[in-house]
Amino acid sequence: MGEPIRPAACVPRPSPEGPVSNELDGRIAHLDLAPLPSAPAWARRHAGAGLNAWQIGPDTIETAQLIVSELVTNAIKAANPGLVRPDSSRSGQREWIALTLRLLQGRVVIEVFDSDPAPPVLSFAGADAENGRGLVLVQALAKEWGHYFPPSGGKTVYAVIGTQEPDAHPIPTRR
Ligand SMILES: Nc1ncnc2c1ncn2[C@@H]1O[C@H](COP(=O)(O)OP(=O)(O)OP(=O)(O)O)[C@@H](O)[C@H]1O
Ligand SMILES: [Mg+2]
Repeated sequence: MGEPIRPAACVPRPSPEGPVSNELDGRIAHLDLAPLPSAPAWARRHAGAGLNAWQIGPDTIETAQLIVSELVTNAIKAANPGLVRPDSSRSGQREWIALTLRLLQGRVVIEVFDSDPAPPVLSFAGADAENGRGLVLVQALAKEWGHYFPPSGGKTVYAVIGTQEPDAHPIPTRR
């Protein structure tokens, strides 16, 4: 058997302790991506497939995909594709970003990791501004959003949305 086919923007996760790339395991959907212009499209596609598998409704999927697009686009800008990861055992390993979706009771958490420790900054640009609208959109669509700093470095920006479907659950409960 050969290597599984991956989209060009998907990269193996550099840290050996991390979950397998591109995995749908029921409650968590994870995708590692190279910070390339194609990453938002792959991230949207992955989010759509994961949420659809969790029987999330189309409106919520669309909302999630909009948020994924904005957060991944920001992460691409923040990541420096030219940098070699200092802790990488593979020479030439490029920067990467990571999308994680978590299904919790009645909500989905969208997380996007990048290696830049600088936090996202909500802009108060006017309606006709060309930039600074992504996070305004995320704030409008999400129940809550924010960021945290993983101990291994970088940061994760997250947004939480409601699932609308109260019964959406990946694993049927036993009675
Ligand atoms: N992942 C991130 N890492 C570092 N800084 C970020 C990140 N996301 C956002 N920021 C900062 O927050 C600012 C606002 O982000 P926002 O997405 O609202 O606007 P933008 O990306 O500048 O423009 P737009 O999204 O409208 O194209 C960015 O300009 C950047 O300085
Ligand atoms: Mg943006």
